[in-house]
Amino acid sequence: MPLRFNKDHCIKARIVLLFLVLGICGISISGCQLNNEVETKENFIPKTGVETKENFIPKIEVEIREDFIPKTELLGYDNNIEPFSFVVISDPHASEPVREGYEKFGTARDKFRLCLEEINKMRKNDDPEFVLITGDIHLWAIKDLISDFDLPVHVIAGNHEKKEHRKELRDFFPDDFKKNGKESDYYSFLHNKVRFIGICDVASSEHVGHLSSETIRPFGQSEWLEAELKKEEKAKVVFGHVPPEPNGEDKNMWLSRNDSLFFNDLIERTRPTVMFFGHQHIPKKLKVSGCDTYVVRSSSWNFRDLPIGFLFVSFQKEGVLIKDILFK
Ligand SMILES: [Fe+2]
Repeated sequence: MPLRFNKDHCIKARIVLLFLVLGICGISISGCQLNNEVETKENFIPKTGVETKENFIPKIEVEIREDFIPKTELLGYDNNIEPFSFVVISDPHASEPVREGYEKFGTARDKFRLCLEEINKMRKNDDPEFVLITGDIHLWAIKDLISDFDLPVHVIAGNHEKKEHRKELRDFFPDDFKKNGKESDYYSFLHNKVRFIGICDVASSEHVGHLSSETIRPFGQSEWLEAELKKEEKAKVVFGHVPPEPNGEDKNMWLSRNDSLFFNDLIERTRPTVMFFGHQHIPKKLKVSGCDTYVVRSSSWNFRDLPIGFLFVSFQKEGVLIKDILFK
């Protein structure tokens, strides 16, 4: 019998079509919401309970990506520099368990130890002289590894370092955390006539960065930073946890809008050589008021499952060599 469509059939077909359209819209709207989610660490809670086999030795490959910045392109440099190298490690999150996607590297503490082992291997040829760690450290989980490590380590707090953890940092690194001889969460040191300026630019448990907070002691960091950046050394390195927003925009995971505007203006006026930050768990190279600025990959985990690793930095006669060391 041939199919015949009457009025009832047409109404039913329209209802089915309406549900189909609504269903497709629902899927695409929820998809958009997922894509528009702000990438903050709360969205990426590490999964516990992932088992690793005892005595299992993972096959880890090391990839190196090099970037050389000639001295003519750097904002500030010292033509009489005595060459030296150092390493920047960021966001070790050292007390965290094995994380999904990075199981073969073990726990966060294992991954930090992997970095130290790789640095020791590099010492045969590249000879880094010290290590900077740019925040979210969880020092309590790796004090012994740092104590046993041969090179000096300089650190700065991240938002994971709460009030008591900041005291732990000051107590463990008493030579660094000083301003005019008194305890301070920010400090500077000299190495081969290059001034390293460590800023504490994050309030505890807050993803937006700040230069002033009840959890950053003592008050007056901005004035101190301006004075440090105006000191006589021709080459200066700034390191901290939260990067300044290059255009001074108001965004999560960056230094706050007004602090970024102050900071960027200060960089333009004082012209440091290079800057290193962490916090974002996505490696980036930025220009902040013309200054080459690196957001360093985390040594523990990165968004989009990007490889873990660290930066090797070499101050040379003709400029600065950066090696991005990736573990795969
Ligand atoms: Fe952070």
